[in-house]
Amino acid sequence: MAKQEQNDNARPEIIDPPENLDQYDTIFIGYPIWWGDLPMAVYTFLESYDFSGKTVIPFCTHEGSGLSGTKSSIENTCSGATVLDGLAVRGSIAQNEQDSARESVTKWLSDIGYAKS
Ligand SMILES: Cc1cc2nc3c(=O)[nH]c(=O)nc-3n(C[C@H](O)[C@H](O)[C@H](O)COP(=O)(O)O)c2cc1C
Repeated sequence: MAKQEQNDNARPEIIDPPENLDQYDTIFIGYPIWWGDLPMAVYTFLESYDFSGKTVIPFCTHEGSGLSGTKSSIENTCSGATVLDGLAVRGSIAQNEQDSARESVTKWLSDIGYAKS
């Protein structure tokens, strides 16, 4: 089904999306990597709003692909946004080794200037 959506370049409907993102300057976008890309519903989300002047920060879970070019996909879709370096965490680590996952998140937030290390 995920593959079919990708092949069809589908834009699955998001139930009850925010009306606008006016109150946000910085937006963290989290998603699993599916077939080396963003789930198509994330494109639905990104294409629904004007991101110009906003800061977009990607993070994903994966099982080997890392961010897999999704930072560029987000940059291409969110014109006018500043897209920071994202974090990729293995889904199995997020699930089963949460101390280690938390450490990666904390380090990353510090690296991009969003938290103390
Ligand atoms: C349909 C599908 C396609 C996937 N494709 C990839 C992939 O191309 N590269 C990768 O590293 N992981 C891939 N995965 C693994 C997922 O990224 C991983 O299981 C997920 O991020 C874990 O988060 P979740 O528990 O929220 O699903 C895929 C998983 C699914 C279900």
